[in-house]
Parts: sequence; C-alpha cells; structure tokens
Amino acid sequence: MNIRVLIIEDESLIRWSLQQKFQQRGYEVTEAENGEAALEALQAGEYDLIMLDYKLPDMTGLDILRRMRDMGKETVVIMITAFSNIEDAVEAIKLGAFDYVAKPFQMDQLLITVDKALETTQLRRQVRELRSRLQHEFGFDRIIGQHPSMLQLFDVINSVARSSSSTVFLRGETGTGKDLVAGVIHYNSDRAPKPFMNITCTAISETLLESELFGHEKGAFTDARAQKKGLFELADGGTVFLDEVGDMSPTLQAKLLHFLENRRFRRIGGSTEISVDVRVIAATNRDIEEAIKAGQFRKDLLYRLNVVPIFLPPLRERGDDVRLLADHFVSIYSREFKKPITAVQPEAYAKLAGYGWPGNVRELRNVIERAVLLCKEDVLKPADIVLGSGQTASVEDTLAGLDLPPGGLDFDQLENKMLRQALARAAGNQTKAAKLLNLSRDTFRYRLEKHNLL
Ligand SMILES: Nc1ncnc2c1ncn2[C@@H]1O[C@H](COP(=O)(O)OP(=O)(O)OP(=O)(O)O)[C@@H](O)[C@H]1O
Ligand SMILES: [Mg+2]
Repeated sequence: MNIRVLIIEDESLIRWSLQQKFQQRGYEVTEAENGEAALEALQAGEYDLIMLDYKLPDMTGLDILRRMRDMGKETVVIMITAFSNIEDAVEAIKLGAFDYVAKPFQMDQLLITVDKALETTQLRRQVRELRSRLQHEFGFDRIIGQHPSMLQLFDVINSVARSSSSTVFLRGETGTGKDLVAGVIHYNSDRAPKPFMNITCTAISETLLESELFGHEKGAFTDARAQKKGLFELADGGTVFLDEVGDMSPTLQAKLLHFLENRRFRRIGGSTEISVDVRVIAATNRDIEEAIKAGQFRKDLLYRLNVVPIFLPPLRERGDDVRLLADHFVSIYSREFKKPITAVQPEAYAKLAGYGWPGNVRELRNVIERAVLLCKEDVLKPADIVLGSGQTASVEDTLAGLDLPPGGLDFDQLENKMLRQALARAAGNQTKAAKLLNLSRDTFRYRLEKHNLL
C-alpha cells in the first residue's frame, strides 16, 4: 500500500526537498503551504505521516495539532522547528506529536525519524485492525442458537456485558462455548478497549500459575531474576478469564478468594498490596459440587465466583440448534476450503440430530469441517458425516509413549513441529508428508496454510 505523507511547510525550498526525497521513496505526497490549506488537506484525506512546520503564516503548528485533536485525527506527526523554538517542540510532543526535527536538518537524520514514525503508524494500524477483528470475532451474533435455553442465555450475557464488574461463573460441558461466551462478554462491555487476559489453570504448575496470575518481585524465588507483573495487573481495566478454575490448587484458591473479596493482591515476595480494577470470568467443565464434597474446591470461593452463574446447555438438549449450527459451520468451511456446498441432505441432518454430541459444539464443528473437506460433491450426504472418534488402535499405539508433560504444552506449537518434521522427513513431498501424519493431502495443505508453512 502507498504511504501517504502530508507536508505542511511554508518555506518552499524545504517543502520541495522533502517532497523530492519522499517521492524517491515512492510515497504519495500532499503539500500545504499554510494552516488553512493544511486543515483542508486534513479534512479531505487520510495520511500515514504528517510533517508539520511550527511557524506558518496564518497559525502555528500547535494550532494545527489542537485542531487535529478536535477532529479525532491520530495521524503520526513530526514537527519541524527552528533551533530557537525547542520549547515549542516539547509543547508539541505534549499535544501528541511523535517527534521533532530542528531546522536546519540533515536529510539522513530526518529520514531515520521518518522511518520510526512510519513504524509507529504501522503498529497503531495493526492494533486497530486486531481490535476490530476481535470485536467482530466476539460479536453477539457469533453465538449461534435459538433454543429457549439459548435465548435466555443471550439475555443474561447482554445484561452481564453491561454490568461491567460483576464476576461471572461459566459452567458447562466441554465444547459448549465457554471460551466464546467469555470473549463475547468482554468485547461487548465497556472494558473492551482494555486487555482480555486468558489463562487455563490446569495447563501449568502451581508456582508458575501463581506467578502468572499475581506476578512476582525480583528474587522472590530462584528463577525470579526480575520483577514481573501478573495477569491481574496487566489486565487492569479489563477482564481476566480463568479457565478450568475447578482445577486450581487449594493455596491458589485461597489467594483468588482474597483477591475477589478485596480486589487487592500481593505479588509473590511482595510486601505491599496492589489494587486493580478487573472483571473476573471463571469457567469449569467439572462438577464443582462434587469437587466441594471431595474437599477439592472451596465452598466460599464458589459463592464468590457465582455472582452471575451462567450454565451452557449441552448440545444434545438444544433440539434444532444442531441443524442451525451445522448450517453455520458448513457455510464457514465451504468458504474456507473454497468448496461451495449447496445443500445438506435431510438424511444427513437426521444423522446429526440422532447423535449424542459428547464433545458438544466443538465436536459438531470438527465433524462438519471434515465432512466439507472430504465430500466429493456439492451436497453433504450421510456418508460424509463421520461420527464418534475416528481414532484407530494403531494411532493409540504410536501415541502411547507420548504423554502430556506435567506443565502442559502449547498444542499449536506441537502441531507446527509435527508438520515441519513430516515435511522434512518426506523431503518436501507433501503427499508423502501427509501420509506420515495419516492426513489427506487437502487436510495437510490446509494445516500448512494455517501455520504459514506453505
Ligand atoms: N453457540 C455457539 N455458536 C457458534 N459457535 C460455537 C457455539 N458454542 C461453541 N462454539 C464453537 O465451538 C468451539 C468450542 O467452544 P469453546 O472453546 O468456547 O468451548 P468450551 O466450553 O470453552 O470448551 P472446553 O470446556 O473444552 O474448554 C469453538 O470453536 C466455538 O467457537
Ligand atoms: Mg474452554
């Protein structure tokens, strides 16, 4: 994409030399020789960078910065100022200018500042895009369902999102949408611009989890070489999602309880309490009442978490939602695999409806993903739908020596590593590599693409 620069400068020689340099670099340049023309140019277009002279015939650069602020423009600005006006440049930085260069300037020096500024523009853009993508990904309409239990759920989620601070406890079997709902609550609340921090309490050891959540001071334990902030601190103003909270150790349960009661905590090895404003969303697929009976979960913590209890119904109890979700995933995967599926045979729906869905929506999604990938025509037939785990004994055997490490692992990284190893072993031959992983070539290529390995 073209880089667009606006040069606001009344000295034609400077304007000309900047314009020449920028055009050599392939930038699209707009020029303004006074404040009025500058404001017009600002109204008319969007820029990646603005070079702004401090002293213009009809106003100052500071006036322009103020006007930009009022217009809600966040474009990166480099001030150009005479040496005698450095204080004004400092004022400009306070008003949001990115940096300044003093006249007379060395072109090389100036270009270094320009590169840094453009990098910032790029980063800001990425952050904005990421945020809008997340907001889209976690829009209300992403939760599919029309069963009365789901309609009730939408009401609750809606009011919880608006309530901003109340603690939420999400319960439901695996694959029922707890992660999805947690994200939807955050991204539809006034906390959306602040961080959404997500941690799975089972995936890591107790000490590591404690330090992840609460942070530590330098020297708090052998490996603590520097101070580290925990998720609660990093998420200040936002939301912390504690997944699988039912598996938390008793010590950490006590510390979490203390936090929920006081909204304050200490870093490991710290002496002062830190206050933060975060909403806690917890989730579990365990039977917490059983865990309490077995002495593994604190009753008082359950009360604290359960301010807004949300129960996600299992898919098998959601009637026609199975069909609705199937259509939803068919449309997603036919787009993704570029396979236009025009219809699903009634018998195929019937097959889906008659199944128990122990893995709930996640399982349905996987079944449809596979069906779309493997189907030969543009109509999904019962034969395309493979229910139950497709795992064979031989796979089980190979995996026998491969155990989940006690500290857990990053599954995405594992997949990435296996894909690369298979490719290497097959000397780059994708068909052979796919065979090594017992995948079809299409699936294999799809996964390579997902990991940017194509
Ligand atoms: N109602 C829904 N509409 C659309 N997609 C859904 C719905 N519920 C779940 N999904 C999708 O199903 C998959 C599994 O959902 P999610 O990860 O939220 O489940 P979970 O309850 O957190 O499971 P687990 O207990 O195993 O962590 C995700 O891809 C999610 O987007
Ligand atoms: Mg989950």
